[in-house]
Amino acid sequence: MKAVVAGASGGIGQPLSLLLKACPLVDNLALYDVVNTPGVATDLSHISSVAKIEGFLPADGGLNKALEGADIVVIPAGIPRKPGMTRDDLFKINAGIVKGLIEGIATTCPDAYILVISNPVNSTVPIAAEVLKKAGKFNPKKLFGVTTLDVVRAETFVQQATGGSGDPRKTVIPVIGGHSGETIVPLWSKAKPAVKIPEDKLDALTYRVQFGGDEVVKAKDGTGSATLSMAYAGFRFAESIMKAAKGETGIVEPTFVYLPGVPGGDAIAKETGCDFFSVPVHLGKDGAEKIEGNIVGEANEYEKKLLVKCYEGLKGNIEKGVEFVVNPP
Ligand code: NAI
Repeated sequence: MKAVVAGASGGIGQPLSLLLKACPLVDNLALYDVVNTPGVATDLSHISSVAKIEGFLPADGGLNKALEGADIVVIPAGIPRKPGMTRDDLFKINAGIVKGLIEGIATTCPDAYILVISNPVNSTVPIAAEVLKKAGKFNPKKLFGVTTLDVVRAETFVQQATGGSGDPRKTVIPVIGGHSGETIVPLWSKAKPAVKIPEDKLDALTYRVQFGGDEVVKAKDGTGSATLSMAYAGFRFAESIMKAAKGETGIVEPTFVYLPGVPGGDAIAKETGCDFFSVPVHLGKDGAEKIEGNIVGEANEYEKKLLVKCYEGLKGNIEKGVEFVVNPP
């Protein structure tokens, strides 16, 4: 298994690369960034794990060299938020960065699983899809927007709100929709095992999952957004993809996918009016195998109201991404 991190020298990229270097599922790890990859790769190369590691810079076709033979490419490249910024404010810079990286993937390793972390995910994943379509290389089962941090936050915050004392990871909470503010919709009613959230805490808990990223941006006071928790979440999702690729079954993860391209997605696309949406997806050797049932239709009344707001915001974000490639500025 060859893994590539594009944006490997950044706040997310470095701890994510560390986790991948330590992961026994990874045989080869390539780090790509516009700066500092020789240093990060040399540092990580001293870790006594099986993965062979190399760092690449843009000079001398470094991107293509990094991507050659890749099975999985994780993309945390691009600028993060500062206080007062929304994820949409990042579009101007990150759209072009993601477009360039996906063009490289389309040429060099079009069969790789592509995991997009760069924000705004609601737009960068549609950009990736359009670039791949243009190149005739789009496989919707292998393109994923990473929304795992929203799931991780829901798992953590619900324990705090309900006074739970168990392992937060053992409660499965589907978080669906998009990855910014009101487009993020935690489905508390579908938690397994069921959770009992006091009525007076429900709004605050939901808000905290939707806007939890702002807590980190504020606390970091101008130096960036979530990096360590994101590296954990990004690794968790990448590990699930790699386990499924190696034949492990029964792995289900919420992720932002192109619905019409994944079995079971058409009904949700019809109901939501959105072609891209985060839903729990069954992962297999070929990537996104299927979406089980219509989780959107099963939401309770409280969650349905949240979903209406989600659709409003998400549709515009998706269109903006598609437009960026179809009618370039
Ligand atoms: P950072 O600024 O610390 O690191 C970004 C890295 O990307 C830098 O090392 C930079 O040199 C590199 N880079 C810039 N242009 C590049 C290019 N063309 N090719 C390769 N690398 C390039 O930022 P941080 O904190 O690591 O965040 C990265 C992105 O992840 C941001 O867009 C942020 O909003 C997003 N993010 C996504 C989350 C999610 O849940 N999906 C959560 C948190 C952040």
